[in-house]
Amino acid sequence: MSQHNLSQRDQKHIWHPYTQMQTAAAPIAIIKGQGTELVDDQGKVYIDAISSWWTNLHGHGHPHIAKRIAEQALNLEQVIFAGFTHAPAVELSEQLLALLPDNQNRVFFSDNGSTACEVAMKMALQYWYNLGEERRTIIAFRDSYHGDTFGAMSISARSAFTLPFADLLFRVEFVDVPTPGNEEETFAQLEMILRSGEVAAFIAEPLLLGTAGMLMYSPETLDSIISLCHKYDTLVILDEVLTGFGRTGKMFASDYLTAQPDIMCFSKGLTGGFLPMGLTTSTEEIYEAFLSDDKMKTFFHGHSYTANPLGCAAGLASLEVFKQEDTLAKIAQIQVSHEGFAKRLFANKQVTGVRVLGTVIAFEVGEGGSYFHNLRDRMYDYFIERGVLLRPLGNTLYILPPYCITDAELDKVYTAIEDLLADLTNWQ
Ligand SMILES: Cc1ncc(COP(=O)(O)O)c(C=O)c1O
Repeated sequence: MSQHNLSQRDQKHIWHPYTQMQTAAAPIAIIKGQGTELVDDQGKVYIDAISSWWTNLHGHGHPHIAKRIAEQALNLEQVIFAGFTHAPAVELSEQLLALLPDNQNRVFFSDNGSTACEVAMKMALQYWYNLGEERRTIIAFRDSYHGDTFGAMSISARSAFTLPFADLLFRVEFVDVPTPGNEEETFAQLEMILRSGEVAAFIAEPLLLGTAGMLMYSPETLDSIISLCHKYDTLVILDEVLTGFGRTGKMFASDYLTAQPDIMCFSKGLTGGFLPMGLTTSTEEIYEAFLSDDKMKTFFHGHSYTANPLGCAAGLASLEVFKQEDTLAKIAQIQVSHEGFAKRLFANKQVTGVRVLGTVIAFEVGEGGSYFHNLRDRMYDYFIERGVLLRPLGNTLYILPPYCITDAELDKVYTAIEDLLADLTNWQ
């Protein structure tokens, strides 16, 4: 197939996500991905330092995952998941549950991170409905992001993303993100709302709020929040869509906790970053509230591609790679490199808020933070020109690489950032 003029052909018909189509540059046409590298149609190579929107784990085109998907496609590519099941779904469920907090015992499949969160909320709300209890309130962090469908927008920050729909979102109670120093304030806000006895669930991105600007908070704080919610019989949902599968240094952010969530959400790295799939897990107690002779207690939710066998095969293959390649050791190595880079950044006056969690390092260029910061586009272009894909969140710069990234590639990314910081004074 001719790759000729892909960008121009794209511009005739395609509407891209999170893109002001009038002013955006022509999209870069990628014709190959291998390891951390993306190659465009001009032969230029980019290091994917953000794992293609936080999805890729072991590198692009990983042969083991590609092979497993191909084998699965030749055997069973898709089958309705109501009234039917298949080995990849059963095996992925078994293997995943074995890695999660031991109270998690049921798996519900969907298509992406937003739907994993939608399912979680509907599960929590219907759980109380089925029990005949009046609990309709949901609590979330003020700066959270759980996706772009209406339910997911409702539990996400009220921001530029949600503004055109503000009057149509359902009401959610928000509490401040408990970043270091703000914990007591968050606990107080939370307890005030929980006391009403009407709270169905609290949903959180555990330890790391990605879209909010890679905000981080401690496991001890989240443990206290979960315990507080449980004191008032409120369900806790942890959205591990970003944090799952090693990003925070452990397999799951919940591995840092002693308290256990009631419901968990997964996507992105679930398939190693190969295929779209979402997954919501719950305790047996929640599941049992839907068991009844009364059909009205059924969970009436599903998607055409629920538990798609190709996605499940990719998920299984990705878990195999974790073992075959000792991926958690690679993750630990990335964290060590980031910590070394953080020390260099601490000494740099252009930078504030340097923080590291597992494979993620983040900081602000200048003071404060805002999504529409005027440095954002210039920084993005600067890195693209140097063959590094970094996608700043406003003036927050972060690195979130595939786990196969080499020391030399990480150094290239660090150097590009340091060059930018050195050039900044000429930008004003
Ligand atoms: C924590 C979290 N939840 C949910 C989502 C939504 O996932 P998706 O884009 O697959 O719908 C995202 C996406 O960035 C996310 O970071």
